[in-house]
Amino acid sequence: MQIRTVHSLQTPTDVLVVAAFDDNFSESPFTDSLLSSVDQYLEGSLREACLAERFRGAPGQCLVLQTSRPSGGFSARRLYLVGLGQRSAASVQVLHGAAASASRFANSVRASSLVFAFASPPPPETKLAHIGAVAFGLEMGAYRFEKYLSADKRTPGVLERADILDEAPKSPVGSNESATAIERGLRLGRAVSFARDLVNEPPSFMTPATLASATVARATAAGATARVFSRSECDALGMGLFLAVAKGSETEPQFVHLIWKPTLDPDASTATPRRSDHRWPCVVLVGKGVTFDSGGLSLKNTEGMLDMKTDMAGAAAVLAALAAIAEEGLPVEVHALAACTENMLSDRSYKLGDVLRSKAGKTVEINNTDAEGRLTLADAITYGLELRPDAILDFATLTGACIVALGPHTAGVMSNHDKTLENWLAAARAAGEDMWPLPLPPRLAEQLKSDIADLKNTGERWGGALTAGHFLKEFVGQTPWIHVDLAGPSTASKESGLNTKGATGFGVASIVEYVRRLATTPSS
Ligand code: BES
Ligand code: MN
Ligand code: ZN
Repeated sequence: MQIRTVHSLQTPTDVLVVAAFDDNFSESPFTDSLLSSVDQYLEGSLREACLAERFRGAPGQCLVLQTSRPSGGFSARRLYLVGLGQRSAASVQVLHGAAASASRFANSVRASSLVFAFASPPPPETKLAHIGAVAFGLEMGAYRFEKYLSADKRTPGVLERADILDEAPKSPVGSNESATAIERGLRLGRAVSFARDLVNEPPSFMTPATLASATVARATAAGATARVFSRSECDALGMGLFLAVAKGSETEPQFVHLIWKPTLDPDASTATPRRSDHRWPCVVLVGKGVTFDSGGLSLKNTEGMLDMKTDMAGAAAVLAALAAIAEEGLPVEVHALAACTENMLSDRSYKLGDVLRSKAGKTVEINNTDAEGRLTLADAITYGLELRPDAILDFATLTGACIVALGPHTAGVMSNHDKTLENWLAAARAAGEDMWPLPLPPRLAEQLKSDIADLKNTGERWGGALTAGHFLKEFVGQTPWIHVDLAGPSTASKESGLNTKGATGFGVASIVEYVRRLATTPSS
């Protein structure tokens, strides 16, 4: 989709979208200048329709008007009015939802263009953030996964051009800033869509090798570099936990390492190294990349296995985010790691009672082969720590227990470092993703004690998201660490807000926002 800014309400378009807070409807006639001029063009029918349909600007509420008699220079063929709710409660999620619903509507009426306008313009200090959020929402609203549908069953997506109404810039710089905000929103949208595609693909196609080649191609095109390790190379690296999970499948596991190292900006010759060994802040991202989780010998039932192609959503998020970070050229060194494998059962599967040696040297007794994610993550974390990052963040569809705790829309966040946790949650909030902190009560760690090894891989039933967090914590040492359990929000059971049914691309937006903030705040 192409998105630009326009400066006139009279721009010819198929759909004029007007996003309005509820206070735009508290008085009649409209006090707001944009709504009242639209109403004048339409000879009062907007006001009439709002009264008749009780349109009050509630969040998500919408109203459609055919404007087949364009008059007085008003040249939109349809008006799509969408509510933003209370101005004081405005959140980026509401904006995202309004923009996504507008592009869904435009596509449903086979419109090829729309103009998006705010009934009352956002204050100058939030204008660019609003424009970026609208561009992102418009792009996400157009997302579909239909490559396996016959041509006649696909929804005819025809929206090609969207314009965002912006007041005329006072200087050329002003319009550049808006264009940059739009470009960022679109770039993020494409990265989230890419992550969704990876997760929506069926598991016999999206194998570790396909996941590796697709993400390496995307990242290298964006200017990043990549390394991929095979089963034997991972063996040489000592990844005993990861390879035990991979044993049950003939399909080759792949360890993916994407690298973004910023290049020195020639104009910024004064840039000084942050630390003797690091020019830039350095972050390691780790994603769970189980391309199908059958549970292994601790086999899942049909219901439990049904969505387990999505067990690589953490890997998809970090690998897609790295490409977006490289495209944006952010001045932060970022590594994205994913130990990709299937968790299958066969005569070669790892067994209950096995004792495995991790890359870190710790031994682990297996009491449930369905707790495979933490094993693959632990070896990837150990590999990541060798890169000596300032922080390490992992993303995983790790436990059903986290969905029980927080519901399907909210990710659980665990950490060993308060300041990093605070920064992470602030970035997630700004990105519009629901995340909530969970504790790591020391007493729960006792459940992971084994009689014959350093650790067991599972504890008791209650608090399962937290014991999984404790297991990972055993491998991170002193490095500031964030663990994001996105088992719930990685998929959506129905269309809503930014999401279509299926994969959501959850995590990408927060990661990009977090790294942008690292790029602009001096490290302490
Ligand atoms: N991939 C699952 C977790 C999961 C469950 C993700 C439902 C999305 C939806 C993970 O590998 C798993 O099987 N976890 C077990 C852990 C248990 C064996 C301690 C679980 O949640 O039941
Ligand atoms: Mn499992
Ligand atoms: Zn799993």
